[in-house]
Amino acid sequence: MTEPRPELERAREIGRVVADLRTRFVKHKRYLRLAEEFDLLLYRRRAEIEGGLKSEARGLVVIGASGSGKTTAIRRLFAKHTDLHLPRPDVEQADVVSFLVPAPATLKSVGYDCLTSLGYPLNRDRTGAVIWSKVQTLLSERKVLFLHLDEVQHLYNLKANRESQAVVNTLKSLMQRPDWPTGLILSGTNELQSLVNMDPQLSRRLTPVEFPSIDATTHAKEIKGIVSHYSEIAGLSVNASELSSSNFARRLIHAAASELGLVIELIVAAIEDALLRAASELDKEAFARAFARRSGCSHVGNPILADDWRAIDARKLLDGAGASLIGPGVAA
Ligand SMILES: Nc1ncnc2c1ncn2[C@@H]1O[C@H](COP(=O)(O)OP(=O)(O)O)[C@@H](O)[C@H]1O
Ligand SMILES: [Mg+2]
Repeated sequence: MTEPRPELERAREIGRVVADLRTRFVKHKRYLRLAEEFDLLLYRRRAEIEGGLKSEARGLVVIGASGSGKTTAIRRLFAKHTDLHLPRPDVEQADVVSFLVPAPATLKSVGYDCLTSLGYPLNRDRTGAVIWSKVQTLLSERKVLFLHLDEVQHLYNLKANRESQAVVNTLKSLMQRPDWPTGLILSGTNELQSLVNMDPQLSRRLTPVEFPSIDATTHAKEIKGIVSHYSEIAGLSVNASELSSSNFARRLIHAAASELGLVIELIVAAIEDALLRAASELDKEAFARAFARRSGCSHVGNPILADDWRAIDARKLLDGAGASLIGPGVAA
């Protein structure tokens, strides 16, 4: 018989708690707005189809920096919608189809990926025009109401204006196709806005939903709420004298490059740190260590601790490290 190993059991338990926190979703204001705008489009489109009306489709353009929470919010919106057919094997109809535009991307490579995700691999030798025409046929056959493309800025090339114009024309033609127009949900960073702005006909059809960066004035209270709620789930108390100060909220937001999604990631990472040290309380040190683990920074360069924290470029440190804030740390 094998010996019981309490430290292994403990590591497993921590793994479970952290995994649970990571699957949770904070219903922030921007999510509610996204859901509202999406429903407007969905039900308008359904009504048009029922009424036999022929009109052009519309869509959304979701803009925010990396880490603001776009992908998580859109995924959640589709997954939790009670009235959407998501793609399933062996079922032809799909109300929404979603996929990521990888970097680097060309119009042709995206068309090809689109075809593959619609279940129709085509020979790569075909031209971009043939591929996109096939995409349109499939969207119509599968009755796709909305096509979601994530990280669309990868299709924007400032130096190749003609290529960007071709992208805009292709996207527009999906929404204008007379027999089956497909609405677009485009998400990405600011460069996506520049792409959309290239063409007034395209931008007019896309309702903007922004995921702006945050500051302590607007978000300190919400963040404090997330810290207490998540700590409670993890069985930790909160060191209120350290974590309730407005100075801490400002430091935390700064450490997360002023992006709401990254703030939540950092909170989970700090909780993981506290659990791994068998602490009963979540304190400032746990946040400092979580940030250091992700960015590899020293005490002096750590926005949670440093005197001149405002001068630290947290985005650069986080991007430089390239890893997730929540390390592989514990075994599941
Ligand atoms: N609403 C949310 N609730 C909980 N965690 C979130 C939420 N939004 C974002 N996150 C966290 O922030 C991280 C970054 O969000 P993500 O959606 O990938 O941002 P973006 O797509 O804008 O770059 C996610 O991995 C997730 O951990
Ligand atoms: Mg994303």
